[in-house]
Amino acid sequence: MSATIENHWLFGYFKPFVSHRVETLRHISTLGDVTRFRLLMGVNYMVSDPQLIAQVLLDPENIFIKNRGFWSRFDDIFGQGLVISEGTIWKKHRKLMAPAFQSKTVQTYFSQMISEVDQYVCTWRTGECISVHQSMMEITLNVLNACLFNVEFADVKKQIVECIKQLESQFSLRVVRPFGFQSKWPSKINKDYWAALTKLETIVKQFINNVRAKNDDKTLLDKLVNARDEGSGGLDDNEIRDELITLILAGHDTTSITVSWALYLLSQHPHLIATLRMEWSTLDPQNLDYNSLVKLPLTRGVLRETLRLYPPAYIIGREPLVDTQIGGVKIPKSFAVVISPYAMGRDERFYKEPEKFIPQRWNEEFEKTLPRFAFIPFGGGKRTCIGEHFAMAEAAILLWRIIGKYDIEYTDNKPLQPAPVMTLTPAPFNLKVHAV
Ligand code: HEM
Repeated sequence: MSATIENHWLFGYFKPFVSHRVETLRHISTLGDVTRFRLLMGVNYMVSDPQLIAQVLLDPENIFIKNRGFWSRFDDIFGQGLVISEGTIWKKHRKLMAPAFQSKTVQTYFSQMISEVDQYVCTWRTGECISVHQSMMEITLNVLNACLFNVEFADVKKQIVECIKQLESQFSLRVVRPFGFQSKWPSKINKDYWAALTKLETIVKQFINNVRAKNDDKTLLDKLVNARDEGSGGLDDNEIRDELITLILAGHDTTSITVSWALYLLSQHPHLIATLRMEWSTLDPQNLDYNSLVKLPLTRGVLRETLRLYPPAYIIGREPLVDTQIGGVKIPKSFAVVISPYAMGRDERFYKEPEKFIPQRWNEEFEKTLPRFAFIPFGGGKRTCIGEHFAMAEAAILLWRIIGKYDIEYTDNKPLQPAPVMTLTPAPFNLKVHAV
């Protein structure tokens, strides 16, 4: 691994970071518990020890905020949405949105989730090659809409997918551009980006208007809109726009990536499919609760092992508001602190044979000994993922309904590789499905 990953005297780790992003993160993580590294002129500190990660994410002194250097490149998309915002705006919005993501509320989405998944996958024919990530993106968007927004979606779904693809195709470029102002030039590539964002904003604003006209109070989107109409403490239209775009982007891509990787990994381990089917044999779709599906040992193990090997959010970034120390290393104010769920998930100190897909490792005994912050696909502390229960329920349902109905065959002769952008996307791949 380290043979190709070199720290250049001038560029630092910039070149390998562009060409082998996750391997570079992993390499840096092996250099120490807190490692100073450079990407061009930008100095960063990678934290790779669970206790020190806890110090940053739990942040008892309230000194860390989201990394502005990174997120400022995307504030035209996310605005003041929950993934970026800080302080009172973040607190107010998190409080407003949290009830829609509690496990008991997620329980009420189950029948809609199952119905959306079934409607989509029942159209697959034996022998058909499914473009997996694309299909998972479409299903997770349908589920998100059915459970959280409930707006007329069919006509605009294709446009939303196209806008997201256009935006995502440029995320990587935006991250590695040395200067933020390069994203403001009126070049063709930037104009395409702005056009996609304007289109997405128009669709989202139409959703908000339609919801306001309906005057319901059932979904999360109804509640966000009504909060504004209740006057004080509510959200204005721009705030609702920011949260809606944040939920669309943060809420479908991550889960679709997880399920895509899980299906690929299962296609490489067919013996697990038989055991999963046995585990699911007594489930009743009409009468199911969160624990009876998501906590089934192998189902849970497959999801955790997939998230360990391929955490969609493979980097978590923070910056301190004041000069501080982590593990005895001085971190100057405003410098980037980097935590990598990918590198932690493959750390040999905590995981034997870290490259291997072994869902059975997730047993009680192993989890008792695993430090809490050695497994952080959903982050941790106050900024922990709001959608964790939603995502786990949806991913478990997707696996159950797909693997329950179809045998899957990976037809490419090369192992699937990650093609990381903002998230740890797999390279495009197909699975051939055969009805069971
Ligand atoms: C497997 C699926 C998912 C993974 C791996 C994941 C991962 C993460 C991680 C690591 C963070 C914390 C980032 C940080 O600390 O800087 C986060 C935050 C967030 N996630 Fe997720 N996520 C997933 C699914 C979802 C879903 C389904 C939704 C919504 C429907 C969602 C919405 C959010 C939001 C709004 C935040 C920001 C929370 C805050 O700062 O208060 N995520 N996610």
